[in-house]
Amino acid sequence: MKQSALQTTAGTFNDTVVRQFSIMAVIWGAVGMLVGVIIAAQLTWPELNLGIPWLSYGRLRPLHTNAVIFAFGGCTLFATSYYVVQRTCQTRLFGDKLASLTFWGWQLIILSAVVSLPMGYTSGKEYAELEWPIDILIAIVWVSYAIVFFGTLAKRTVRHIYVANWFFGAFILTVAMLHIVNSAAIPAGWMKSYSAYAGVQDAMIQWWYGHNAVGFFLTAGFLGIMYYFIPKQAERPVYSYRLSIVHFWALIFTYMWAGPHHLHYTALPDWTQSLGMVFSLILLAPSWGGMINGVMTLSGAWHKLRDDPILRFLIVSLSFYGMSTFEGPMMSIKTVNALSHYTDWTVGHVHSGALGWVGLVSMGSLYYLIPRLFGQKKMYSIPAIELHFWLATVGIVIYIAAMWIAGVMQGLMWRAINTDGTLTYTFVESVKATFPYYVLRLLGGLLYLGGMLIMVWNVLKTATAMPAVDTAIPATQAHA
Ligand code: HEM
Ligand code: HEM
Repeated sequence: MKQSALQTTAGTFNDTVVRQFSIMAVIWGAVGMLVGVIIAAQLTWPELNLGIPWLSYGRLRPLHTNAVIFAFGGCTLFATSYYVVQRTCQTRLFGDKLASLTFWGWQLIILSAVVSLPMGYTSGKEYAELEWPIDILIAIVWVSYAIVFFGTLAKRTVRHIYVANWFFGAFILTVAMLHIVNSAAIPAGWMKSYSAYAGVQDAMIQWWYGHNAVGFFLTAGFLGIMYYFIPKQAERPVYSYRLSIVHFWALIFTYMWAGPHHLHYTALPDWTQSLGMVFSLILLAPSWGGMINGVMTLSGAWHKLRDDPILRFLIVSLSFYGMSTFEGPMMSIKTVNALSHYTDWTVGHVHSGALGWVGLVSMGSLYYLIPRLFGQKKMYSIPAIELHFWLATVGIVIYIAAMWIAGVMQGLMWRAINTDGTLTYTFVESVKATFPYYVLRLLGGLLYLGGMLIMVWNVLKTATAMPAVDTAIPATQAHA
C-alpha cells in the first residue's frame, strides 16, 4: 500500500488513516466473502472440510461472520467516519497517533481472529466469539476510536454537527457499551473464559448485544455513510433534513428494545418476547423513513442512475435495506417466527441485509473515496464498476431467493404431521430437499465474490497510479 507523501501538517486532513482503512476494507471484504463461499460449499458437500479440524464448518463459520462484519464492515466504517467527520467539521482528525493506533490495533484484532477461530478458541457467543484477551484489545481500540471521533467533533470549526456524524457517534458509543457489557467474563486460562452471566440472563444479554450489533454496527454506522455519500454522489442536498433528525432519534430509541425477538418461545419471560415483537414492528417506521429520505434525495436527478454505477450501488443498497427492514418486523411476529426460526429463511434475511444493504453501500462509498484519496479524478475502470454492480446484484437475488424458498420449505416440512399425529418427514428428508438451494446459494455467493475480486483489482490499479497526497483543508467554512 502506498503511504501518504509527506504532508501531515495542520493544514491538511489526515487522509493517511482513511486510505489505510479503505484499502484494508476491500482486502478483508474479499477474504471474508471467500470464506463465505467455502462454508456455502461445505454445507452443500460436507466432505469439503477435508477432515482437517481447522477447515471444519464450525470453525470457519465464525471466521466468516467476524471477517465480513468486523473486518470488512469495520474497516469501511472507520474509513468513512474518519473521512466524513473531517470534511463536515472542517478540521483535521484529533490525535494522529491515536488514529494510527486504531488502524494497527484493529488489524491486530482481525489477525488474532484469523488465527484463534480456526484453532477452535471461542467464547461461544455469536458475533462475540473472540476470547477475553482479544476482547480487552477491542475495548482499548474502540475507546481510542471514540476519543479520536469525538475529539474531532469537539475541535470542529463549523457550528453545526451534520447528521451523518450523529449516526456515526451513536454507533461508536453504543458498540462500546454493548461490547464491554456482553463480553464480561471470568477468565479460566489464557484463551478460555466463562460468561459473567448465567442461564436466561446470559441469553438475554447476548441477544441484546446481538440485535444491537445489527442495529448499530450494521445499520446506524452505515446510515451515517448514506447521509453523506448519497447527497455527495447525487450532488443534491438530503431530501429532508428534519426527517433525518426524527429518523435518528426514533431509530436509536427503538432498536434497543427489540433484541428478545431472537429468543421467541424460549425460557425468556413471555412478556419480554412480546415487548421485543412490538418494538420490532414499530422499527419498521423509522427504518422506512430513513430509506425514503435516502432514496428521495435523488429527486430531480433520477437520470443519474442510468450512467453512474456508484450511485446505483448506493441507491440499490437502500432498496435492500427497505426489503430487510420490512422482512425483519414480519419475522419478529411470534407466529411467523414459529415457522422461520432455525430455517434458512433467517439466513436469507441476514444476507439481504448483509449483501444487499451493508455490502452495496460499503462498495459505493469506497468507490467514491478511493480515487479522491489517491489523487485521481475517477476509478481506474468504470466498466469494471458496472460489471461489479451487476455481478453483485444478480448474486444477491440468487442467494436470497434460494434461501427464502429453502427456509419456508424446511419450516413447512418440519411441522407437517400425518393424521395419526406422527411427523410426515424425517429431518434428513428436509436436508436432502434443501440440496439444490444450497447449490444455488453457492452460485450466488460465487458471483458476489467475483464482483468483489474485480473491485480489488480496480482499487489496486487506482491506488498505485500516482503517489497519494493528503488533501488541504479549504479556507472557507463550507461543507467539503
Ligand atoms: C460471497 C458472499 C457470502 C457468502 C457466500 C456467504 C455465505 C454464508 C453462509 C454459508 C453462512 C452460514 C449459514 C448457515 O449457518 O446456515 C453465512 C452466515 C452469515 N453471513 Fe454470510 N456470506 C457472504 C457474505 C456475507 C457478508 C458480506 C456479510 C455481512 C456484511 C455476511 C454476514 C453473515 C452473517 C451475519 C451470518 C450468520 C447468519 C445467521 O446466523 O443466521 N455474509 N454466510
Ligand atoms: C427493522 C429491522 C429489522 C428487524 C425488526 C429484524 C428482525 C429480525 C428477526 C425477527 C430475526 C430472526 C430471529 C430468529 O428467529 O432467530 C432476525 C435475524 C437477523 N437479522 Fe434482522 N431484522 C431487521 C433488520 C436487519 C438488517 C438490516 C440486518 C443486516 C444488516 C439484519 C441482520 C440480522 C441477522 C444477522 C440476524 C440473525 C441473527 C442470528 O440468529 O445469528 N436484520 N432479524
